[in-house]
Amino acid sequence: MMEIKRYMLMAPTLLAASLGSLAGDGVKVEHLGVNNTLVRVEGDGRYLMMPVQESVDDAKVNLLVDGKLERTFYVRLAKSKIDYSVPLDLEPYKGHNVVLEINANNEYSPLGEVKEQASWNSFTLADSFDTTNSEKFRPAFHHTPLYGWMNDPNGMFYKDGVWHLYYQWNPYGSKWQNMTWGHSSSTDLVNWKHEPTAIEPDGIGTIFSGSCAIDTENSTGFGKDAVVALYTSAAASQMQSLAHSENNGESFIKYPGNPVFTLETEARDPNMYWNPDTKKWTIVLAHALEKEILFLSSPDLKEWTVESAFGKGEGAQDGVWECPDLFPLEINGKKKWVLLVNLNPGGPFGGSATQYFIGDFDGKTFTADTDASGKIPTKWMDFGKDHYATVTWSDAPDGRRTAIGWMSNWQYAADVPTQQYRSANTLPRELSLFTAPDGEIYLASVPSPEVKNLRAKTIMNGRTLNVGKKASSVSLPSANDGLCEVAFDIESKKNANVNITLSNSKNEKVVITYNSTDNTIAFDRREAGISNFSVDFPAVTVSPTFSINGKTSVHLFIDRSSVEMFAKDGKYVMTNLVFPNEPYSSISFSSEGSAKISNLEMYSLKANN
Ligand code: FRU
Repeated sequence: MMEIKRYMLMAPTLLAASLGSLAGDGVKVEHLGVNNTLVRVEGDGRYLMMPVQESVDDAKVNLLVDGKLERTFYVRLAKSKIDYSVPLDLEPYKGHNVVLEINANNEYSPLGEVKEQASWNSFTLADSFDTTNSEKFRPAFHHTPLYGWMNDPNGMFYKDGVWHLYYQWNPYGSKWQNMTWGHSSSTDLVNWKHEPTAIEPDGIGTIFSGSCAIDTENSTGFGKDAVVALYTSAAASQMQSLAHSENNGESFIKYPGNPVFTLETEARDPNMYWNPDTKKWTIVLAHALEKEILFLSSPDLKEWTVESAFGKGEGAQDGVWECPDLFPLEINGKKKWVLLVNLNPGGPFGGSATQYFIGDFDGKTFTADTDASGKIPTKWMDFGKDHYATVTWSDAPDGRRTAIGWMSNWQYAADVPTQQYRSANTLPRELSLFTAPDGEIYLASVPSPEVKNLRAKTIMNGRTLNVGKKASSVSLPSANDGLCEVAFDIESKKNANVNITLSNSKNEKVVITYNSTDNTIAFDRREAGISNFSVDFPAVTVSPTFSINGKTSVHLFIDRSSVEMFAKDGKYVMTNLVFPNEPYSSISFSSEGSAKISNLEMYSLKANN
């Protein structure tokens, strides 16, 4: 568990620029000439606090320990203003000489100017670093990193009652950089414990997305039931690497022969499972720019063979293919295979999204099902804008197939109005298959059963409302900044649209519209709150409801900056971020004709963060 101590994360004041070379006590700064500076740690302290200004370019930092290059990382070192500071943990180097050799070489600055830049006077030593939540949009019941940028969920596995979640993490700022595997764990998928960093960059690159599994057969020789990890080492090229853990995923030992697999073209995000029939691993790998998925096999994760490829020209192709996952699910007693393929850009509402294919897999080749017209249909897992890089847990108990996504979109993830951290995960979801009225098999997603543990109080249980043109409003719970869960069934009486509006006293609103003529449900966040940070943020997202006869259901989870909407049976899902200036306080229902809202349930939810 990362220490949670006191240190002001935000450093609001800009220290007066001084030409002196001493920064905070115990830190000495030496300017060597244009854009090159040494920062020497001379005093004691657990952390060297590095000042960040998000709008400037990255500086390259070589961390020298006793004169040897320990590692290189990139930080947007502050120039004219300090947005916040990030910690460099000095604990591992206690008793050694620590120097940062900094090249702010992105643009030419004369020495005098460099000396006056805020950052050089604002490195400080601190014994503690406060990671308690200080931001109003930080989700209260979704997983977020304690601080810094997060994107894809990675390497999730379940072992001995614990759900492990790794993630693409930048420890040195709230924008994408320095990809590292952060780690959290949970016994119930909703209360997360922050664990020490799992895998750090090395000489062959930063650590991009990948997967973990339990090596029950000791196929790798690392030991029976060792946790094995595959990930992409990303530098000038993308290569695939192997690691294993001897302490249930707390830390990983990299395979000395890395990389284990290379190609001449960009490929990433290896995802594996052990195939007991072939006694080999099956690995799916995104051949990103070719927009296809490679299927490989390996007896030991060290020697890989390309068996086949799927996807060229199929499905959505308007972006790179990333983060695949392959797993079986049953429908009507038959096994079908689901291939998840994340795509960026090219999603149905712009930017990133998760598409999937249903088909068969014989251990070597994936064959996608075709629709009535003989084509392979494009299917979307979630019809919101903020659901990406979704993959599933390996080795989940009771035959469960549990997924989690990154709750953002590459279009604006780096610009959302948060600072201490950026991005959260979606709620965990259980996957299953269903046959829709069009005869096609689709993926259903419902919140994992553990999500019920978040309920604090039952506010309403089973109410019915007959609604017409005049809106019927119900207050949302105000406890914990309005965190709540609301579920109801809708029956449209004369095929008229039914509107459901979440709103606050500032007239900020989300409008959900059920259209029973074309069997769709829409989510309009154009006036939901703050949206001016990106032209791509205001949007209306629309999903088929996969229902007939004018009936559907809605199940909402409202956190401080997101609304997830499920059909009660999981046939549609929509995940959207929202940034209301104050929590939504009311939900209202109306119809252009008449409609019945029944089984209205409402719960206030607990705040975990
Ligand atoms: C998807 C992705 C992956 C890659 C990772 C890098 O969001 O681009 O393909 O491994 O992010 O952080």
